[in-house]
Amino acid sequence: MTEEIRLNSSKLGTQEYWNEFYKREINNFQENEEDTGECWFDDSDAENKMIQFILDKLNEDEFPFTHEEIKFLDLGTGNGHLLFQLHEDLEEEYEGQRELKFGFTGVDYSPDSVEFSREIAAKKYPESSFSFDQVDLLAKHNNTFLLDHKQQFDILLDKGTLDAIALNQDPLPDFEGKIGMDAYADQVSQLMHSNSILLITSCNFTEEELIQIITSNKSNSLSVWGKINYPSFQFGGAKGSTICSIAFIKN
Ligand SMILES: C[S@@+](CC[C@H](N)C(=O)[O-])C[C@H]1O[C@@H](n2cnc3c(N)ncnc32)[C@H](O)[C@@H]1O
Repeated sequence: MTEEIRLNSSKLGTQEYWNEFYKREINNFQENEEDTGECWFDDSDAENKMIQFILDKLNEDEFPFTHEEIKFLDLGTGNGHLLFQLHEDLEEEYEGQRELKFGFTGVDYSPDSVEFSREIAAKKYPESSFSFDQVDLLAKHNNTFLLDHKQQFDILLDKGTLDAIALNQDPLPDFEGKIGMDAYADQVSQLMHSNSILLITSCNFTEEELIQIITSNKSNSLSVWGKINYPSFQFGGAKGSTICSIAFIKN
């Protein structure tokens, strides 16, 4: 159990906040198509580092699956930026031996995020196929996306979504009163097959905390597969980093 790891509640843990946020971003984009919105954790270069991690593993053929089509799922996709950039970089920099196709799906519980991502995809990437769906990752019952996509994705990405989920302390009645961050791993692991990878970037948790949150419930079969290194700082003898990214594998 992860009871001891808790953040204070914040408005960033509510859907209303994100709806308002993406409504504003849609307006900005409509005024200026170069403005595709906030790139979370940009100061730590997290997006590039996540993409480089994936590219390196693909180029070295180190992912433990051998399909010809690699299906990516971005959890809490926001403005879809991570998927769009990943698509561009794979086109330019994938140089592995195998001929691969890539599928890009983004989900978010904010309808405004989904509208925004679809609008950017239609305007900026009309030739490419991206799929964006409104999904509450913490919905247990009647979650058609979860039911229709069980074990479907090869690489799941999360940049800041578990962080946002952890900022809501409301108990979830469908999960016997657990809070979102403790229900998250069991929910998203249903979308993974054996050997799928879940790459999470967090600025709210240390590596140790993130590992505990994701792996403490053994029934989801997730364990650590890799990690991304960020510059670390040292203060009073303690070593730390302001951000961490850990890759988990489903066994
Ligand atoms: C900090 S933002 C990060 C957005 C995006 N991943 C990025 O890096 O730009 C957190 C995102 O998680 C989404 N989110 C929060 N809780 C969610 C849930 N239960 N289900 C789906 N999406 C959620 C929010 O709507 C928001 O888009």
